[in-house]
Amino acid sequence: MSVVIVVGAQWGDEGKGKVVDLFTERADTVVRYGGGANAGHTLVIDGQKLVTHLVPSGVCHPGKACVLGDGMVIDPHTLLEEISECQARGLLTRGELLIGLGAHVILPYHKLIDGLREDHGAKRGKAIGTTRRGIGPAYEMKAARKGVRMRDLLRPERLRAQVASNLDDLAPVITHLGGQVPSKAEVDKWIDDALVAGEKLRPHTGDAGRHVAKVIGEGKHVLFEGAQGCLLDLDHGTYPYVTSSSTIAAGACQSAGIGPTMIDSVVGITKAYATRVGEGPFPTELHGEEGDRLRNAGGEFGATTGRPRRCGWLDLPALRMGVRLSGMQSLALTKLDVLAGLPEVSVCDAYKLDGKELDEPPTDPAEPIYVRIPGWEKLPSNARSIDDLPAPARSYVQTISQMAGVPFCLVSVGPDRSETIRLTDPFA
Ligand code: GDP
Ligand code: IMO
Ligand code: MG
Repeated sequence: MSVVIVVGAQWGDEGKGKVVDLFTERADTVVRYGGGANAGHTLVIDGQKLVTHLVPSGVCHPGKACVLGDGMVIDPHTLLEEISECQARGLLTRGELLIGLGAHVILPYHKLIDGLREDHGAKRGKAIGTTRRGIGPAYEMKAARKGVRMRDLLRPERLRAQVASNLDDLAPVITHLGGQVPSKAEVDKWIDDALVAGEKLRPHTGDAGRHVAKVIGEGKHVLFEGAQGCLLDLDHGTYPYVTSSSTIAAGACQSAGIGPTMIDSVVGITKAYATRVGEGPFPTELHGEEGDRLRNAGGEFGATTGRPRRCGWLDLPALRMGVRLSGMQSLALTKLDVLAGLPEVSVCDAYKLDGKELDEPPTDPAEPIYVRIPGWEKLPSNARSIDDLPAPARSYVQTISQMAGVPFCLVSVGPDRSETIRLTDPFA
C-alpha cells in the first residue's frame, strides 16, 4: 500500500491530527485536500501541543512534503501565521510546503458574509453554527465561477478586478443581512494585504495536482489528510447542517486532482463516543450531567472556535454510514480513555422507525436503540497492546469493530503521540 486516505468518520474532531501525525512516520508526502481554517487538528508530542488549521498535520516530521490541494479554501493570513508558528518551532524550514495555485482564497468579505448570515439565521432559529471562517461563501463563489484563487494573489490587476466584481454582487446581500458595505479604502486595504501575503506565499506555490500524481507514480508513500468528517459532507452529510466541501474519501481524489485508481487504502477515525459542534441532528446526544462529564473528561471544546462540543454516545448506524460513504477498510479508535470510570457505556446499534429496525440513520427522526456494555476503570496510559487494556475496554473495542464491520488499525488511549496501541500499519 502506498497511497492512504485518512478521513473523519463522524462530525469532525475525531483525532485526525493525532493519527495523521503518527501515520506520517511512514509517508513521504502528506496532502490536506479540502476545507479551510474551519478545521482544527491538535497534535501533542512529548507534552508539546500544536494546533494546525491549514498546514497538514504531518508537519512535525521535518523533511516530509506537506501539500495543500486545489480543493481547499485558504485564508492567506491564517496560513502565514501558521507557517510562522511552525518555523518558530524549527518546522517547515526546508521548503516542505507546496500550495496548489488552484486553491481558492478566503478574503475578509467571505468571513463578513458568513458571520452576518449566522447572526441573521440565529435571530430566526436557522443558524448552521458555522465556524465563521468564510468557508461557505468562498465555496459558493467558487461554484459560481467568481472565486479568487491562489494564482490571483500573484496577479494584482486581476485580483483588483475580481474583488471589485465580487463586492458589486455582495453589496446588496450585505445590506439585506443588516451589515455595513465596506468602504473603498477598506477594500483597497484588503487587496493590498492579500497581495503582500501572496508575495510571501509565492515561493511555496505550484501545481499541487501534478506533483502529487508524480510522487505517487514514483511509488512514494502519500497520505491524504481529510478535514471535518463524513457526516459533515456537503452531498451526503446531515444537510443543511454540513460544511461546504466533500469530506468523504472521494473528496481526496477530486480535490487533490488524482484518480481513484491511485488510492490503496482508506482509514476512518472515530472517537469511542460522539461529538458535534454547531447545529444539526445528533440523536445520541447526552444533555445535562452525562454530557458535561464527557465534555470535561474529553476536553471537548473546539480547537478552532473554543465552542463547547455537544457530546453523546457512539452512533453505530452513523458510523456504518461513514464506513460506506468512504469505503473505509480499517478504523482508528480514539479517546477510549475518556470513557474510563463509567459503570457502563452505551452504544446506539440501530434506529427504530415505524416499528422497523434500521442499521443506518434514517432521514426522519427515529428512536436510537442502545446496547449497554460494562465500563472500565482508568486505562494505563502506557498501554501499547490490546492485552494491556482491562477486559471490559477490550470487549468494547471488539464489540464496536464487529458492529461497524471493520477492523481497527489503531486504538488511542491519550492525546500524546506515544499514547497509542498500534495494531496494523495502513501502508503495509
Ligand atoms: P481533529 O480535528 O480530528 O484533528 O481532532 P481535534 O484535534 O479537533 O480534537 C481531538 C482532541 O482530542 C484533541 O485535543 C486531541 O489532542 C485529543 N485526543 C486525540 N486522541 C486522544 C485520545 O486518545 N485520548 C484523549 N484523551 N485525547 C485525545
Ligand atoms: P476538523 O477538521 C468539527 C462544522 C461547524 C458547523 C459546520 C459548518 O477539526 O474536524 P463551516 O465553518 O465549515 O461552514 O461550518 O461544520 N465544522 C466542524 N466541526 N470539526 C471540524 O473540522 C469542522 N469544520 C466545520 O461547526 O457545524
Ligand atoms: Mg478538529
